[in-house]
Amino acid sequence: MRQLSQIKAALPQAVQGSSMIKPSVFVASTALAFVAASALAQPATLDVRATMQQRVNPAMMAIWDVGNNALNDEGGIDPKLMDGAKWAQVAEAADQLAAVGKDMAGAQGFIAAAPGNSEVGDGEITMAAVQQHIDGDPAGLKQMAAAFADHAQRLATAARAKDAATAGDLIAEMDGVCETCHARYWYPE
Ligand code: HEC
Repeated sequence: MRQLSQIKAALPQAVQGSSMIKPSVFVASTALAFVAASALAQPATLDVRATMQQRVNPAMMAIWDVGNNALNDEGGIDPKLMDGAKWAQVAEAADQLAAVGKDMAGAQGFIAAAPGNSEVGDGEITMAAVQQHIDGDPAGLKQMAAAFADHAQRLATAARAKDAATAGDLIAEMDGVCETCHARYWYPE
């Protein structure tokens, strides 16, 4: 099994670290919370980039934070390095990922990114291109989001059962779940 740290290193640069969480994102997130609360009953168009930045990435970081500090020699989770608080952190973050996956799977439509949050670096895939990828097959995105929710749900269950072997496997496999969707909708060949 691969080390969690290697998995982290294999992810695109943007996924690593928190440098992408700019102060402006936090301000926007407060504003969005109001919008989200008042829009609950209406069919929602989901902002994929904001969802990745504000919900998916922080929750995944919280899981890696625990996982990377509790590795055994095989790259799995050593239960002796875990405690109740760490298991709870994994379970809660996995719950959040499951909730995001369900929100994505149930969204009425998608925007790749909000107009004020569409900048990308030189040579990176534009948000307009991502929008085209999504518009080409939104049902496929929802399917992958549902699979992602299911995977996260199983991780939450394993963490609550303090089942280190299963949780370690599910965390390691999560990389592939993220990547499958990114390879199709973010930077397809
Ligand atoms: C169902 C599809 C899907 C899944 C599952 C998914 N993503 Fe994404 N993600 C996207 C798309 C589409 C983009 C491209 C838009 C963008 O760059 O924000 C993206 C972009 C991102 C970005 C870049 C945000 C930015 O600043 O542009 C990060 C970070 C990210 N995802 C993290 C993750 C992680 C971590 C996971 C797994 C725990 C994950 N994603 C799972 C669809 C998905």
